[in-house]
Amino acid sequence: MTHLIETQQFDREALQRLFRLASIYEGKRDESLRGKILASLFYEPSTRTRLSFESAMLRLGGNVLSMENASESSSSTKGETIEDTIRIVDNYADSIVMRHPEAGAAARAAAVSEVPIINGGDGVGQHPTQAFLDLYTIEREIGRTDDFHIAFVGDLKYGRAARSLAYLLGKYDNVRMTFVSAPALKMKDDIKQHLAEHGVRIEEMEDLQGVMQEADVVYQTRVQKERFPSQKEHEQFKGAYVINLPMADSMKKGAILIHPLPRAGEIAPEVDDSPHAVYFKQAGYGVLVRMALLKTLLGEEKKTIRTYRRKK
Ligand code: CP
Repeated sequence: MTHLIETQQFDREALQRLFRLASIYEGKRDESLRGKILASLFYEPSTRTRLSFESAMLRLGGNVLSMENASESSSSTKGETIEDTIRIVDNYADSIVMRHPEAGAAARAAAVSEVPIINGGDGVGQHPTQAFLDLYTIEREIGRTDDFHIAFVGDLKYGRAARSLAYLLGKYDNVRMTFVSAPALKMKDDIKQHLAEHGVRIEEMEDLQGVMQEADVVYQTRVQKERFPSQKEHEQFKGAYVINLPMADSMKKGAILIHPLPRAGEIAPEVDDSPHAVYFKQAGYGVLVRMALLKTLLGEEKKTIRTYRRKK
């Protein structure tokens, strides 16, 4: 059984294959998953992840069963555990994409599932498919995945998308990372330790202005309101790093501004027409990457992915 729980399961070669397949799917439909069913089980809100997975499955000729707002509309409200829910839903579908507020929930699901589980975001844990589409965007837009400088900006403590991409970039050569955040929202030590073990050069700072002009990729993130213990604490950081048009204009020629979206004010709308702004294109690439991933997990290619092993 091949589940996708964390980015570390893909090596460079598997990612290259995934991206090659994604680019083949551009502007193309494929009926090869006809008869297969994807269940989307979302215990937290989502626009992009759920709909792009469902679009990807439909574009491959498959079908979808969709449960949005599962924390309120599923039998979890009656006390059903994740494990029991998965033991039921795996009878109904050939794969399950799940989003859940608890880190580790996808791994719990994978431990009991008879069909592939895809982690669509587990609390402050990981969001591997977002990292894949972020990396695909970088490759498409700057033309390389080695030898570049990326600045991660904003809420690096709670932002699982930034965490997942940082993990993934540890596999590439000469990637310089700058983490720009308030001290209380710094990237956690587990990622920094992983990057140190992989010889990645990292810097941490609070000032965004200088690095905007130097980076090849600026990865802006939303302050994750829903993860803060109180609204008061969230208010402290809201609006700390807002990218406006003069800041976008200060970026190097060919540099890109990406964001996993949704945004909540941290990129001014006037930036949308900047040649550096590729975040809407990035969301569009999500369908191609998720088509490639579904085809990989549900087809012959699944043996190319490292099996997920739950940490003891
Ligand atoms: N980037 C992302 O995960 O978006 P959604 O929350 O809308 O799925």
